[in-house]
Amino acid sequence: MSTRDSGPLLDAGERMDAAGLRTYQLERLRETLRRVYENVAPYRAKFDAAGVTPDDLRSLADLARFPFTTKADLRDAYPFGMFAVPMDDVRRLHASSGTTGQPTVVGYTGGDLSMWADMVARSIRAAGGRPGHKVHIAYGYGLFTGGLGAHYGAERLGCTVIPASGGMTSRQVQLIRDFEPEIIMVTPSYMLTLLDEFERQGIDARTSSLRVGIFGAEPWTEEMRREIEERAGLDAVDIYGLSEVIGPGVAQECVETKDGLHVWEDHFYPEIVDPLTGAVLPDGEDGELVFTSLTKEAMPIIRYRTRDLSRLLPGTARPGFRRMEKVTGRSDDMIILRGVNVFPTQIEEIVLRTPAVAPHFQIHLGRRERLDEMTVRVEARPDAAPGSRETAAAEIVRAVKDGVGVSVRAEVVDPETLERSVGKIRRVIDER
Ligand code: DLL
Repeated sequence: MSTRDSGPLLDAGERMDAAGLRTYQLERLRETLRRVYENVAPYRAKFDAAGVTPDDLRSLADLARFPFTTKADLRDAYPFGMFAVPMDDVRRLHASSGTTGQPTVVGYTGGDLSMWADMVARSIRAAGGRPGHKVHIAYGYGLFTGGLGAHYGAERLGCTVIPASGGMTSRQVQLIRDFEPEIIMVTPSYMLTLLDEFERQGIDARTSSLRVGIFGAEPWTEEMRREIEERAGLDAVDIYGLSEVIGPGVAQECVETKDGLHVWEDHFYPEIVDPLTGAVLPDGEDGELVFTSLTKEAMPIIRYRTRDLSRLLPGTARPGFRRMEKVTGRSDDMIILRGVNVFPTQIEEIVLRTPAVAPHFQIHLGRRERLDEMTVRVEARPDAAPGSRETAAAEIVRAVKDGVGVSVRAEVVDPETLERSVGKIRRVIDER
């Protein structure tokens, strides 16, 4: 069975043409606005304050008249204030920890869980997965949506699930060798940890059964794709999602094109807005992704500000749906260093292009003489020639200066000394 063509077996949603899709979206959007206006007090209050009612939506463009929803709105409604159905109808809760204080809670009806499984099944199929494949899931199980989201989607597609969850890295490698899965679903940073473990055990990961890796939950670059594909001998594709919208399976890259992620627009309506003014931007322009759910029951979400930066492009492998470009970063991950905007992904690109260093790095922010300074700390490759460290550090400093336009320090440290990822990696350590 080829994993390089995701075309056959399209479902009804994927076969919709553009005109059919727009009519469907408008209908579902109207219903969703009505449902939240009637059932969710914070939405009603916000719509009233903005002077809009669900009847003001006559075209998809009218959505721009409705207020945004932010993480703060969800926190204020903690835990269940955003739910649109009685608690008796809520079958599952998930929560995302966030970096500060209160977690945000999301709820699912049985119908929501089924739609979610359908979207993850569609995503795995777009990645090249087929019924009968074994899927090793190393996203964390628990309140995080990664593990269970991937799990039910893989089962829905008709795959055999290996629910490994995160951690116990040496055992993960053993399981992959013994159970011979075709597919792995894991964060890209933890995939690197797994690849190092293969090497530590003296096994060439390219000889494993894995054919496809479905990586997401954190930003990763084309350079990281190349690194993982070469070392693991598989096709690496991107999966995107967030708890507030559903979890993984909001958008997925198709294996045959690897050209960004098709947004499953029959359930999640995307907009790109100017992060500062909130104005809706035309397709093709860079900005912040905003999502509105079209079919969710327990916790419909209206114009949710993701903070993720991307742009919308026409569909390719799924012509009915638009693509979102690989997320380059979050507006709140952006480091402003002496007036220059720096994203961790820009540093990732440079580190992965530097031959003598491993793909493990951290960004430390400090302050010296009242000036912010940034140090890129990166591991030497175990086989790097002695003396290559100074050269590598100088190369990184120069590439950051040339490519990003800012002066940084770089330190090449011993192999195996930086913290390893078991899930979402923390790239920036702010010591200011
Ligand atoms: O990370 C859901 C998920 C699980 C997606 C497994 C893919 C795979 P949250 O914990 O709510 O949900 O975090 C959502 O993670 O707003 C992005 O900033 C980031 N993110 C998720 N997928 C990607 C991706 C899950 N493919 C937040 N590329 C989002 C870049 C991503 N960032």
